[in-house]
Amino acid sequence: MRPIARANVPPMEPVLFERRDAVALLTLNRPQALNALDVATLETLEARIGEVAGDAGARALVLTGEGRAFAAGADIAAMRAFSAAQAGEFSRLGHRAFAALEALAIPTIAAVNGYALGGGCELALACDWIYASARARFGQPEVNLGIVPGFGGTSRLVRRVGVAWAKEIVLAGEPIDAEVALRIGLANRVFAPEELLPAALAAGGAIAAKGPLAVAAAKRVIQHGQDADSRVAHALEQEAFAAAFASEDRAEGMAAFLEKRAPVFKGR
Ligand code: CAA
Repeated sequence: MRPIARANVPPMEPVLFERRDAVALLTLNRPQALNALDVATLETLEARIGEVAGDAGARALVLTGEGRAFAAGADIAAMRAFSAAQAGEFSRLGHRAFAALEALAIPTIAAVNGYALGGGCELALACDWIYASARARFGQPEVNLGIVPGFGGTSRLVRRVGVAWAKEIVLAGEPIDAEVALRIGLANRVFAPEELLPAALAAGGAIAAKGPLAVAAAKRVIQHGQDADSRVAHALEQEAFAAAFASEDRAEGMAAFLEKRAPVFKGR
């Protein structure tokens, strides 16, 4: 019997990129491994983030997972044989990809549809905010494997939920459900599973009607201000506020308000 021909079956893309109107949608696409993050997935994610950054029509990004997980963490099967040097390289790759995500000028929303564990939770944390399915589970279970978080969990989780909850989640290594994630400020909102993606896309779509320069400037000031002391943060805000007045968009936004009509922003 002849073997089944496989030549025309394209390899599965680990991260899919599509545009839904003005919203870029990235979908982690290794459902058979609960979207575990291996080198190929992280490199593809980094490349896709670069594509989103270069897409002038994308005004917000939604990141989600195919199947029953957002991402169940770094790929344990792939990490099993790592030397310490290889682990360091892998950690730097994850940090680089997630930093690129965090640095996008447009707002980014993680639509966490299921497990967001280890590197998956860290990926969600690199987004501006998180919407969760009622089925979502968050956690940093690395200590169960004898390792520590490697893609930003020790720093971004502390900033998002405070040091006490971050310590419990990382040091105890037990997952939390969507309701707890909501209560501690890890997730902004919780939705029924079928409502999650439409809600995230709608939130991204609504941002497309705002002044894009203002949205980008506000995001930049919040992020840089968070890393600075309060005097520097206040100075950054004053500069951004003044700079916004030099834009055509602010003239249009204020005129539209006073003329009782919808603004038409041009990003200038
Ligand atoms: N890496 C590799 N494969 C994984 C994976 C991971 N992180 N998580 C799940 N999978 C695979 C499973 O091995 C299984 O594959 P097979 O069908 O080939 O056996 C498939 O996905 C389905 O998983 P389960 O059968 O385990 O599904 P379940 O419903 O019984 O359990 C789960 C789901 C609780 C999420 C469980 O899969 C699990 O505990 N996964 C590991 C979670 C984890 O420890 N993540 C942290 C990784 S370390 C890390 O991320 C470090 C870092 O910070 C960078």
